[in-house]
Amino acid sequence: MSTIDPHDVATFGGAAPLRGRVRVPGDKGIAHRALVFASIADGVSTIMGLPDGADVASTRAALVALGVPVESRTQDAALVYGAGIDALREPADVVDCGNSGTTMRLMSGLLAGRSFLSVLGGDASLRTRPMARVVEPLRAMGAAIDGRDNGALAPLVIRGGGLRGRAVSLPVASAQVKTAVVLAGLQADGVTEVTEPSASRDHTERMLAVVGVPIEVDGTTVRVRAGAPDPFTVSVPGDASSAAFWCVAASITPGSEIVVEGVSLNPTRIAFVDVLRRMGATIDVVHHDDELGEPVGDLHVVAAALHGTTIGGDEIPLVQDEIPVLAVAAAFADGPTHVTEAGELRVKESDRLATVAAVLGELGVGVETSSDGLAIHGGRPRAGSFTSFGDHRIAMAAAIAAHAIDGTSRVSGWRASAVSYPSFGDDLARLTEPS
Ligand code: S3P
Repeated sequence: MSTIDPHDVATFGGAAPLRGRVRVPGDKGIAHRALVFASIADGVSTIMGLPDGADVASTRAALVALGVPVESRTQDAALVYGAGIDALREPADVVDCGNSGTTMRLMSGLLAGRSFLSVLGGDASLRTRPMARVVEPLRAMGAAIDGRDNGALAPLVIRGGGLRGRAVSLPVASAQVKTAVVLAGLQADGVTEVTEPSASRDHTERMLAVVGVPIEVDGTTVRVRAGAPDPFTVSVPGDASSAAFWCVAASITPGSEIVVEGVSLNPTRIAFVDVLRRMGATIDVVHHDDELGEPVGDLHVVAAALHGTTIGGDEIPLVQDEIPVLAVAAAFADGPTHVTEAGELRVKESDRLATVAAVLGELGVGVETSSDGLAIHGGRPRAGSFTSFGDHRIAMAAAIAAHAIDGTSRVSGWRASAVSYPSFGDDLARLTEPS
């Protein structure tokens, strides 16, 4: 059961089993990249299955502000009229990246190669997020970039151009920063090489290879030279991070059995399935398609008794967006779960070690935080009054926990969920409709 009132509070509870099939919005990471790559291709690209969340709308609006015509076809399809990267124009105003770190970091890499002036701004959360990680390598390649705190915080002011390729070593694994450096490398003289300490999601590498950009991948190193994508057509598969909410909901709500259809099965995105299986979850993965270098398929989930696990090390960059909902799974599991080496969670849309701990605390589950981790003691979660802290994934993780409990719980700040999954409440209602 779920209802939403005009004060932005949603109520959940009752533990009705989830049954049936669900299709989640298109993958955010793939959609941001598809829009950016199509904008610098020379010709018309067609993107179907665009998600309707606010983050991807921010990237689309940013590209339109640079003079790229983007035309909606149906509710979720758009034509992007790319005319090559030289057709991008100085934006007339500050480019608003909203809540989206991916928009700001990808646009930084794109604009690092453009000689006009651009200013990238965002909401209060985005203006606290670390930007030095993207500004420093782009400056080293020759772009002039400034921002608050010497370029560590947005708004960022960019006057690019004259880039030289170079080898960049990232201190933290980050797909956003890797992609920014690659976008700059496509506009630089010579070879650009970016190396990460461990693997992050690899949508950029897969997509560019399919759309005709020579890109070399050697372990955790990616190499590119100047070049441009060919126009393309893509149907964006479902977002694995959104699918993770249903995988946990069906696992912890007794009597559930669901299929999440048409999800990206990219191995750098579905590591959360391995974590849940390690906890005892029953999840089958059925691969049936490929789209722009991405495997696509269905996730079959049946409710199961879960037990605790440890999540850490090189696994963290591959599950970091799913930690809030994996923490909810841990709250319903027998025995403790430890999340380690996860300091990056402190600089997401909220400080997710603190905000996850607040959700679990409200559930009445024992939890301790350290500088870079969580210790979660499974227990008997109880209904409560949760807040989203303005973070879409915290809103939905709290909703999944609240749904699986008998009493009625409230989630305030519910509108934040629209950043990635505006129809979450409707999908939950459909999955729990009595048959
Ligand atoms: C993203 C990469 C991840 C992820 C974010 C989206 C992307 O961040 O947390 O939500 O689309 O590149 P990192 O840059 O920390 O890998």
